[in-house]
Amino acid sequence: MSSKDISFAPPRGMRDFYPEDMIERSFLFDTWKKSALRFGFQHYDACVVETMDLLRRKAGEEISDQIYTFKDKSDRDLALRPEMTPTLARMIAAKQGSLSFPIKWFSIPQCFRYERTTRGRKREHFQWNLDIVGDPSVYAEAEVIACAATSLASLGIQKDAYRVRFNNRRLLADLLSSYSIPEDQHPSVFLALDKKGKVPDEKIREILSENGIPETTVFKIDEMAACQSLDDVSSVVPTSPGLAETDRFLDAAAAFGIDDVLEFDLSVIRGLAYYTGIVFEAFDSARQLRAIFGGGRYDNLLSTIGGGDITAVGLGFGDVVVSELMRDLGIDSPPMTEDTILVGYMSDEQREVSTRIATALRRQGHNVCLASKAQKPKAFFKGAGGSNCAKAAFIGPDDVDSGQIKLKNLTTRDETVVAISEILKV
Ligand code: HAM
Repeated sequence: MSSKDISFAPPRGMRDFYPEDMIERSFLFDTWKKSALRFGFQHYDACVVETMDLLRRKAGEEISDQIYTFKDKSDRDLALRPEMTPTLARMIAAKQGSLSFPIKWFSIPQCFRYERTTRGRKREHFQWNLDIVGDPSVYAEAEVIACAATSLASLGIQKDAYRVRFNNRRLLADLLSSYSIPEDQHPSVFLALDKKGKVPDEKIREILSENGIPETTVFKIDEMAACQSLDDVSSVVPTSPGLAETDRFLDAAAAFGIDDVLEFDLSVIRGLAYYTGIVFEAFDSARQLRAIFGGGRYDNLLSTIGGGDITAVGLGFGDVVVSELMRDLGIDSPPMTEDTILVGYMSDEQREVSTRIATALRRQGHNVCLASKAQKPKAFFKGAGGSNCAKAAFIGPDDVDSGQIKLKNLTTRDETVVAISEILKV
């Protein structure tokens, strides 16, 4: 291979994060973390590699075809996790006897999916996960959405910039039953309906007939999809338990102050097979991007993977789409000023004393960035101004002779004179 053929790009769909990219990423992660803590969620994490055995147990949708799989040296089938939810279910099942429910946990895992890459869609992304396990009430759905909305506000994304479209799979099931579509066909119909608007109707018909669903059902589904509002739906199934639950969800959302961002949308189904109740997806108001976050209730996942019968609700909020949205809205991440002292010196003769000063300051608990080459003061302070350090000290021969250095605050430009002997005392 000639050097001309060598590519320095990361594998397709994967990303590198240079220090300037990390400013944006750290701001996002910190915002997510603060919002989760504000709502009382506890931080957890897990390994990136998961067993195929677990992922197969909850399979049944497109995501299963997108898994990065490999065999380890002992021939075990492993995968890079495509999402965190099965891992969370496994972790809870493992300690189910000792956990006290309900639990509220959050994490920011990196997930891998072999997808067709488009704007907002990569083959690797970080996904903030918020889950409440063991709370059967629709207040749990409203709470995870309220927490996500809080983080959007902290990122500078106002309520008019997005909408959370929601639906209820239980209500949809009531509707399907009212159109005489048998219950055992519901899961396949859900996944086919999720494709509506994303692939040609012909393709949906094909998917349905591959799942043994007759042509007549397809026409009923088209008829049902004409329901636009909750009022339309309630005129078809006025006494449906799913409808009553949806009303309760709206009341809970009002109590959390997020009812104004919610919009009922019968076409929101979600591509994952495990959801059982309220499902939701947040989109930018201009509808330029893919979903900002999505989630819902998944009451059977724990038992499906072999754990106990425990209800669960959660959402996943990726880093890619929200970053695109912030760019579209002209929102910059605030510059990260680190509480770091930059220490520089005029010539190699002051390198030793500068190193001793830096070492003493570090022992006192300061972050210190020590220059690795001598510089003229002008060049040093120019560099210091462009850095994100909070303070700077420049040490020249006169400072060593006088036994004092000036510590400059790079924001206020104030200078404090400190005796070198004082610093080195520690
Ligand atoms: P999901 O809808 O597949 O749900 O993903 C959640 C979010 O992750 C999406 O709305 C999007 O922001 C981001 N995301 C997903 N795939 C990609 C990708 N290829 N590139 C960039 N961003 C992506 C789940 O994964 C569920 N496990 C969420 C959940 C948690 N449900 C309950 N608890």
